[in-house]
Amino acid sequence: MKFEISNCAAESAEGEMHKKSQDTDEVVSLTGVTFGYNGTPVLKDVNLTVKAKDFIALIGPNGAAKSTLMKLMVGLLLPRTGEVRLFGSDVRRFGQWHRIGYVSQNAVRVNTGFPATVEEVVASGFYSGFGKLFDTAGRRKAVQQALEMTGIQNLSRRLVGELSGGQLQKVFLAKALVKKPEALFLDEPTTGIDAASSKEFYTLLKELNMREGITVVVITHDIGAAFDRAAKIGCVRNGKVYIHDNIDEVTQEHVAEVLGYRIPELSAAFSTSQNPKKS
Ligand SMILES: Nc1ncnc2c1ncn2[C@@H]1O[C@H](COP(=O)(O)OP(=O)(O)O)[C@@H](O)[C@H]1O
Ligand SMILES: [Mg+2]
Repeated sequence: MKFEISNCAAESAEGEMHKKSQDTDEVVSLTGVTFGYNGTPVLKDVNLTVKAKDFIALIGPNGAAKSTLMKLMVGLLLPRTGEVRLFGSDVRRFGQWHRIGYVSQNAVRVNTGFPATVEEVVASGFYSGFGKLFDTAGRRKAVQQALEMTGIQNLSRRLVGELSGGQLQKVFLAKALVKKPEALFLDEPTTGIDAASSKEFYTLLKELNMREGITVVVITHDIGAAFDRAAKIGCVRNGKVYIHDNIDEVTQEHVAEVLGYRIPELSAAFSTSQNPKKS
């Protein structure tokens, strides 16, 4: 069956009814967003809302514009057509960047070549945005809290170059958390990490979501680990995005359609934890 995102039942209705409210419950909203790099759009008339405390896993094939979508969500790219709102404000007027934490795709690969300690990398989270600098004591405390939240206090004095991929991802997560954001945007954080560390990482995200109330949007190819923990699934394909509010409606067949290939090891996730009510 050919994948048509417009087949997703509520898509057109949602587009029409899409709110532009100042609702504080909304973390990010895109309304009629079209974006392309060289004239050809890679995202076409996208409408979506991320609400406070959502945990959304975004999936889609390579080149589907998942990273582009996330950069539009965090204000790194501006829409040619349509509107992006962050916490109710147009992205062009938004100034409260500390409310958002973002870890780019390949962050780990490009940042580990210098002899910095874990603490130093986490503290550098204060400098990467547009937020005010904290006083030294406050900053040190915030670094400690971010290390605690991600369970890597014991690594604080280690050099980042000595860490495993799974440990490094936690360091970059801690860096994104240091300004106490309300929402985290992570672009393929577990690519290249072993399965056990990946599972642990998504469990940590789930804890941050449930315990701290942090909104999580994560692009992932790690379907099994993410599906066990996310509350909603966003599909990106053919320039369109559709968010399934109810993860139960996302079948293994649907995932295969979106990605363009089937993931055999998914059967276990779908037959047990994901759809307990249906079995
Ligand atoms: N800076 C750029 N300049 C030109 N084209 C780009 C740029 N970044 C991404 N693209 C193109 O846009 C499309 C979507 O890319 P991307 O958002 O990175 O997809 P994904 O993250 O889903 O793999 C691809 O065709 C890619 O080649
Ligand atoms: Mg990408």
